[in-house]
Amino acid sequence: MGCQASRRILLLATIVVAASLPPPSAAQTASCADLAFSGGRLYAACSPLEELDASVHWTYHASNGTADVAFRVPGGSAGWAAWAINPSAVGMLGANTVFAYHNPATGVVAVATAVVDSYAPAFADGDLAFAVYRRGAEYTDGVYAIHATVALPGNSTRQNIVWQAGTSSPDGLPESHQAFGDNVMSSRSWDFRSAEAAVVVDDVPAAPRDSVYRALLRPKNIHGVLNAVSWGVLLPLGVMLARYMRVFPSLDPAWFYLHVACQCSGYVVGSAGWVFGLTLGSPAKGALQHHGHRNIGTALFVLSTLQVSALLIRPKKTVKVRFYWNLYHWSVGYTVVVLGVVNVFKGIGILQADQKYRHAYLGAVLVLAVVAFVLELVTLTVRFKKGRR
Ligand SMILES: *[C@@H]1O[C@H](CO)[C@@H](O)[C@H](O)[C@H]1NC(C)=O
Ligand SMILES: *[C@@H]1O[C@H](CO)[C@@H](O)[C@H](O)[C@H]1NC(C)=O
Repeated sequence: MGCQASRRILLLATIVVAASLPPPSAAQTASCADLAFSGGRLYAACSPLEELDASVHWTYHASNGTADVAFRVPGGSAGWAAWAINPSAVGMLGANTVFAYHNPATGVVAVATAVVDSYAPAFADGDLAFAVYRRGAEYTDGVYAIHATVALPGNSTRQNIVWQAGTSSPDGLPESHQAFGDNVMSSRSWDFRSAEAAVVVDDVPAAPRDSVYRALLRPKNIHGVLNAVSWGVLLPLGVMLARYMRVFPSLDPAWFYLHVACQCSGYVVGSAGWVFGLTLGSPAKGALQHHGHRNIGTALFVLSTLQVSALLIRPKKTVKVRFYWNLYHWSVGYTVVVLGVVNVFKGIGILQADQKYRHAYLGAVLVLAVVAFVLELVTLTVRFKKGRR
């Protein structure tokens, strides 16, 4: 039986993978390639940038060493956004910057170029170290789009790029941005030659992007971890505890308490994660909206709140309506588990995180699925024997 079982497990694993995987990483490229610019502006390549939910779009002209470059950066309607090439260093000091900012007098989005030469720069629209042939800025649905055609410094396709967003421009001038999280990690070494999207060349050493500590402090990652653990692992685990432990009389009523403990802690942690998630997508902060993910999240919260409340009105085992209560409890429970796992994968897709996170969660789901499959066979046998006695 061993070989056949393992084959079946493999088949089940394949089905689970196929059903739960969102479209592969091509979707990441598509997510920036689908973004339109006004005036029918088109770019040959684009790549999402994790920090500040930005994306860079560009066309490189080898014949004259110029590049048409655009950045999209979400931001508040009273704020500003910017991108820069830094020909002399990594990071902010020396950044030759194209700004888009809201002019409070007119409400119009203005564009300006300036070299940032200190941490509190005197801001004046002026020349950059390289030629800027065209420049412009627009603001739609909470997202700044800043474009410019520039002569790449040193006629090199390899440049240090920086991007940024700030929340206020009160005097018609950009004010300083947040000095932690994404705002201090938004720089990269970039190659404008490649027509391939996602050409992240290498990470800027000055920005400690790999630091787990920093990464964990980012709100969307906190949201991700809370929800992956609760909706994604604890709740399915709790369902398995109830389904399989119950079959063994010696484990009664231990299974019940374990099940309640698992589901209640999952519910508490998951609700916290859900609330956290709601603050992330706030349009007031100019965040991108992920309606599908958010709606599933809210449905999960409502269904699991029902589920927890239903515990209080649970009829006695001996009463006939208990059968209907069980039916209800199981169907809502399985719905929550399926939606929860689907939404965790959706969330990982939105984060555009390193593939290792998707693989890690997929691994967790597979382990649960395989354990469930084995227990299903075992408990089936036990039930069958009981039935014959
Ligand atoms: C650079 O070359 C491209 C075509 O290769 C052309 O469209 C563009 O106008 C040129 N730019 C400048 C500044 O000459
Ligand atoms: C830039 O370099 C390319 C080759 O990589 C060359 O064809 C082009 O003429 C150079 N442009 C300038 C402005 O030096």
